[in-house]
Order: sequence, then C-alpha cells, then structure tokens
Amino acid sequence: MTMTIDARILKALRAAGSNGMPGTEISRQLGVSRAAIWARIEELRTAGYKIIASPHHGYQLISGPEGLVADDLISRLENPRVIGREIRVFRETRSTNEIMEKLAVDNLAEGIVVFAESQTAGRGRLGRRWISPPGKGLWFSILLRPPLRPQEMTRLTIASVTSIARALRNYLGLKPEIKWPNDLLLRGRKVAGILTELNTEPDRIKYAILGIGLNVNLEARDLPDDLHSFATSLLLELGRPLDRAELAVQLLREIDRDYERICTGQFDTVAREWSQQCRTLGNYVSATVGPNQVRGWAESLDTDGALIIRNDHGHLQRIIGGDVFIENA
Ligand code: BTN
Repeated sequence: MTMTIDARILKALRAAGSNGMPGTEISRQLGVSRAAIWARIEELRTAGYKIIASPHHGYQLISGPEGLVADDLISRLENPRVIGREIRVFRETRSTNEIMEKLAVDNLAEGIVVFAESQTAGRGRLGRRWISPPGKGLWFSILLRPPLRPQEMTRLTIASVTSIARALRNYLGLKPEIKWPNDLLLRGRKVAGILTELNTEPDRIKYAILGIGLNVNLEARDLPDDLHSFATSLLLELGRPLDRAELAVQLLREIDRDYERICTGQFDTVAREWSQQCRTLGNYVSATVGPNQVRGWAESLDTDGALIIRNDHGHLQRIIGGDVFIENA
C-alpha cells in the first residue's frame, strides 16, 4: 500500500488519540524531518483537520474535515489485502463507474477505489438513474480482477452486498434485508444498490467494476417524489447523520474480507451468510428477464450466484439477471 506522508501522520495521530504525539516522535517514526512534519500538519489544518498542539502532549487530532479525503481513508484502513490499497476522491463526476472504466484500461492493479462526493449521471441497474447529491452518500467504484469466469460474476455482487449488510449490522446495529441479487433494504425500502460492470474474454473476466451506492445522510427532500416509497437512507432510518468516512472504512474492510473468500474458493460461506438475510428466498416471486416473465417459488442460490426458481409447472429455472418481485409479501 502506498501511503503518503499525510496518511502516515494521520494514522500516527489517530493511534495516539487523546495522548497526542510530539513532533519529534512523529518525525522519528516516519523518518521525515520535523520541519517537514510541521509543514504537512499546517497543510492538513488548511484542508480542514483540527489538530491542536500543546507543549505537554504534542499534536492531537481532534476532528477531520466534512468531506471524504483519500489520505484520511487510507490512514484508517489497516493493511487492506486488496480493496483500498489505493483510493481517489472526486468532488463531482458523472459516474464513478465511468471514471473507473478509464482507469481500468491502463492495467491498473485491482483494489483501487474511486469515491465521488456527487455524481451528475449516477447509473443504476437496467439503465436506471442513481440519485447522488453532494456530500450525502457513499458513491464509489472498486476495480477488481477476479479469478472468475464471466458466468460467475453474480458471486461478486452477492459477496459485496453481504459485506455491506454485515457492516450495517455490526457497525450500526441495523437489520438490513437483501433482495436478490444486490439490493439492500431497510424496512422494505432500498438503501443501497450495486452495479457490476464487466469487461470479459470468452472464459475469464478481464476486469470488473463494482459500483456501490449507499444512501447515508440523504433527507426526504433529497429524494425525488417518485422514489419516496421505494428508497430510504441511513439518516432517515436512524434519525441521525453518520460519519461517512468511518462508514466507508467499515464497508471497504468487509468487502476486502468477502472478496478474499470468493477468490479462495469459499463462496459457500458467503452464500450461507447471504441466504440468512435474503428476503427473496422462500417467497413466491416473479422475475423479469429481458422480455420474459418467470413466476414461481424462489428456492435457493446456485453455486454461481444465480437464483433458482421453481416455476408453476414444478421445473427449476435459473435467473442470472433482471428484476425479481416478491408477490406474496
Ligand atoms: C442499482 O441498484 O440499480 C445499482 C446502483 C449503483 C449506484 C452506484 S453509485 C457509485 C457507482 N457509480 C454509478 O454510476 N453507479 C454506481
């Protein structure tokens, strides 16, 4: 992982907590002159970090800036295996998936994450839009080069939605439900979605772009009227705004964990966790696959992540894309 001096200073200050850390100590730990440390700390202050200096304790990090800062996120991630080895933050972009497409062709290593404070043309699945107002959510894309065949790509989506669900459960005590394959619901309303885009060769995935949108601090007025009954945000559910940077770090850690699992033949473990939270399984559903409509009981998940539906004639059908609606809810 390439950590800038700023990221290393922030990491050291965060570890020191309220004890603070003298400039001489930071300088020794980082192998950088005291003057350079002082200059960087001045810069960090300008960027919105509140860092106080006292004769007894040295430097103390009190708070960070409002927005997402790449160095800050990197400094909080403890040695990621793959996800988050490199992070970039854009203030405004059309879509982080679009930015990633451009980066991916440069043979960039997998694991880079691109965040945007806002997207002007955020994309959802099936050609839908994704509302991404500034500073209110986590809109990001991850570049992956998984050792999977193109038909196994649903595993990626299943793994990442499981990671996000776990982060919301463990970190915020929420009980999210998963709607196959990749919607995350709170009290029946969508709070997060994933758009996976692939570049494939006949039998391997060259790269995958995992685009994740999580509605964090959106208020009701941030959502268009037609979405009010379908969408929600963590703020609307919890009644308080959340620290997006901290949440982002939790998400990346969990995604890193599940990505390792699916790359090392442990999709079963992920699938089991996914099934426990899945709202779709065990229900009578209708699925729209292109022009066709399939109806039946959602029975299980196949080893590649496909949804297995037993249709009205008792036959099993595999669903690998499209939309699934629960009919008996
Ligand atoms: C869906 O549920 O339809 C998928 C939504 C995915 C939204 C995210 S936000 C970050 C990334 N960039 C995009 O344009 N879309 C994804």
